[in-house]
Amino acid sequence: MANGLSKRIFTFLMLISLVAVALNLLATVEAQNKKKPRRDVPIVKGLSWSFYQKACPKVEKIIRKELKKVFKNDIGLAAAILRIHFHDCFVQGCEGSVLLDGSASGPGEQSSIPNLTLRQAAFVVINNLRALVHKQCGQVVSCSDTLALAARDSVVLSGGPDYDVPLGRRDSLAFASQNTTLNNLPPPFAKASQLITDFANRNLNITDLVALSGGHTIGIAHCPSFTGRLYPNQDPTMNKFFANSLKRTCPTANSSNTQVNDIRSPDVFDNKYYVDLMNRQGLFTSDQDLFVDKRTRGIVESFAIDKKLFFDHFAVAMIKMGQMSVLTGSQGEIRSNCSARNTGSFMSVLEEGILEEALSMI
Ligand code: HEM
Ligand SMILES: *[C@@H]1O[C@H](CO)[C@@H](O)[C@H](O)[C@H]1NC(C)=O
Ligand SMILES: *[C@@H]1O[C@H](CO)[C@@H](O)[C@H](O)[C@H]1NC(C)=O
Ligand SMILES: *[C@@H]1O[C@H](CO)[C@@H](O)[C@H](O)[C@H]1NC(C)=O
Ligand SMILES: *[C@@H]1O[C@H](CO)[C@@H](O)[C@H](O)[C@H]1NC(C)=O
Ligand SMILES: *[C@@H]1O[C@H](CO)[C@@H](O)[C@H](O)[C@H]1NC(C)=O
Repeated sequence: MANGLSKRIFTFLMLISLVAVALNLLATVEAQNKKKPRRDVPIVKGLSWSFYQKACPKVEKIIRKELKKVFKNDIGLAAAILRIHFHDCFVQGCEGSVLLDGSASGPGEQSSIPNLTLRQAAFVVINNLRALVHKQCGQVVSCSDTLALAARDSVVLSGGPDYDVPLGRRDSLAFASQNTTLNNLPPPFAKASQLITDFANRNLNITDLVALSGGHTIGIAHCPSFTGRLYPNQDPTMNKFFANSLKRTCPTANSSNTQVNDIRSPDVFDNKYYVDLMNRQGLFTSDQDLFVDKRTRGIVESFAIDKKLFFDHFAVAMIKMGQMSVLTGSQGEIRSNCSARNTGSFMSVLEEGILEEALSMI
């Protein structure tokens, strides 16, 4: 009798543990499916896919969680952050110079150069992320890494593709002058030919160019960035109805009004930007000419009809762009305030021990 009961209890317990094991397996499989794909992109020396695994294992979670809250209030900040990362990488490399108060397009000076208006509020978000990460892990995560992760999350939380970001960037000590900034950022009136050359000089090919321009599937622009296509003469490559609507938004060339970049789905990271281009509703010359130029037109069409194809190429191109002229190892520093260089040598002494620990994990 007692034997029969314990047998039944035993069977029952076995069943429960089997179910538990099965559930566990299922959960693992699901977690693996959910895990963002690691794109097949070579990474530069000094960066690593698991740079903060020991020093700050939660850094990605902290950033994603905070940005979810931030974007619930203002999804426009996702576009602003993505653009700041692009500017950071194109001017002197992804080393956080754009975040420095005093850089030509940095916080406090965004209005000094026309067409380079970076949103002040986005700089505040980066500094807040920096403070949150700092509080949890100490001064181990750079501002440039924080920005690269925040840009990735801006894409993801707007509906775009997820991807792993190689980490280990250090922050620059040098500002970006107005000349350096202007010389390195392509202007909105650039034609595809110029963009192709510009991007090729940075080891970004025409697929990367077309994919990265898809960043304009979110965000806004100020009238002076595109009114050269309306006044005094209307750009013939622009759809007439679209031009008329833009003229209502920008009654004068210098109007301070704004226009969404992607009229079909302004706040959603999708492939509608390419549909806009095919309908001659691209906002900048640099956008529309990608559909005019024979070398890039086919790529625009392929992205317009295949969102997954666009997403895959965008993720790869972002990882490539995110590694341009990075500072690693003992170069640069880990800023304590993203808007300013560290003062005094105490911090740099402190950093070195932490840096060695991080490097030993690569
Ligand atoms: C290909 C050359 C590019 C040119 C000529 C260009 C030019 C511009 C211009 C003129 C604006 C509007 C600025 C304003 O008037 O407020 C803008 C906005 C924007 N750009 Fe680009 N861009 C380029 C590439 C990129 C790339 C590679 C990305 C990111 C992957 C990007 C992401 C954005 C975003 C998200 C906005 C909206 C920002 C906001 O809403 O605050 N752009 N771009
Ligand atoms: C900046 O560029 C302008 C023209 O492109 C040039 O005249 C000027 O000397 C440059 N300034 C510096 C500090 O290099
Ligand atoms: C550009 O490079 C990417 C990988 O980085 C590759 O997938 C793509 O095919 C290349 N495109 C061209 C036109 O070479
Ligand atoms: C800003 O855009 C307008 C119109 O496309 C152009 O005339 C002007 O030169 C641009 N300025 C800069 C600094 O790119
Ligand atoms: C736009 O503003 C610039 C200077 O800010 C000025 O030189 C130009 O004449 C203005 N253009 C128009 C059409 O108002
Ligand atoms: C960060 O640096 C900027 C620029 O120097 C300064 O205005 C700001 O007060 C600093 N923030 C903190 C929290 O120290």
